[in-house]
Amino acid sequence: MLMNYYDVDDLKKISHLLELHNLGELKIYRADLTDEGSFEEAVMGCHIVFHTATPVDFASEDPEKDMIKPAIQGTLDILKACTKAQTVKRVVVTSSAAAVSINKLNSTNLVMDEECWTDVEYLYSEKPPTWGYAASKTLAEKTAWKYAKENKIELITVIPSLMAGPSITPNVPSSICLAMSLITGNEFLINGLKGMQILSGSISLSHVEDVVRAHIFLAEEESASGRYICSPINTSFPELAKFLNKRYPQYKVPTDFGDFSANAKLILSSEKLTNEGFSFKYGIEEIYDQSVEYFKKAGPLQD
Ligand SMILES: NC(=O)c1ccc[n+]([C@@H]2O[C@H](COP(=O)([O-])OP(=O)(O)OC[C@H]3O[C@@H](n4cnc5c(N)ncnc54)[C@H](OP(=O)(O)O)[C@@H]3O)[C@@H](O)[C@H]2O)c1
Repeated sequence: MLMNYYDVDDLKKISHLLELHNLGELKIYRADLTDEGSFEEAVMGCHIVFHTATPVDFASEDPEKDMIKPAIQGTLDILKACTKAQTVKRVVVTSSAAAVSINKLNSTNLVMDEECWTDVEYLYSEKPPTWGYAASKTLAEKTAWKYAKENKIELITVIPSLMAGPSITPNVPSSICLAMSLITGNEFLINGLKGMQILSGSISLSHVEDVVRAHIFLAEEESASGRYICSPINTSFPELAKFLNKRYPQYKVPTDFGDFSANAKLILSSEKLTNEGFSFKYGIEEIYDQSVEYFKKAGPLQD
């Protein structure tokens, strides 16, 4: 059931959601992170709220305006709507590895867990590429924790790494394009993936379905509390290239990257999540086999 006005572009964008009507009742509301109070109607009467939306614009010339402010304000606004509703038992917010692992430490073999936070001062002072997204995710998550503590909201944050796997959305998601760049040969995105290791300290990956399963698991698991990293795969850009070259020889994935470090600076630990009782369904083989199949069907890849 569409709960308020939608134009044709909206209907295209949510066509995959409309198809889910077959599975049971689904109400779809329009809301905007920058439009105060606009989530209230959707949240009213809910027991569990998942907040996954965030503005993503890596090309932004004004990240403060385009990503940081709306992410913080929107998160706060949704939590306020939860307080107002008085029915919400738990809120699950999607954060990001970008809120955990970015720092200027020079060490290697670091293990990052839920105690770790991205160094926002470093992001603001050095402004490395894509710094605005990392700052938006870190500051939005910190804002959520502050509000939840002050207003006694039961909050869980899920911290995924780069997601790949098949998608049901009308457009191919940009994160899958990034994860698949070594296979598609898109130079711009290959540099983006290299940049990810330089900034975040590793190439860490998760299957989108595992991330969704983790959200539901943590929403339902009585004993769950706090932050949860959700990322089963930790590798480096050159190691990933070697793996892909061997598994899919037909795509001739390059493997010589000069002195680019094959040792990731850090790994993201999902131990808290697995100790809670969660099992990952997909390893790196399945993540890429399914992404390759998806890309063949969706268009960006030939046999
Ligand atoms: N994809 C990954 O690899 C990855 C990794 C770690 C964490 N995450 C996190 O996972 C979540 C989903 O990521 P994604 O990759 O699916 O991102 P995405 O494809 O860019 O989707 C972001 C969603 O947020 C919505 N959104 C953006 N600005 C909004 C606004 N002002 N008001 C209301 N909705 C707005 C977008 O709606 P419109 O399309 O209508 O703008 C879109 O549905 C995000 O919180 C992201 O930080 C993603």
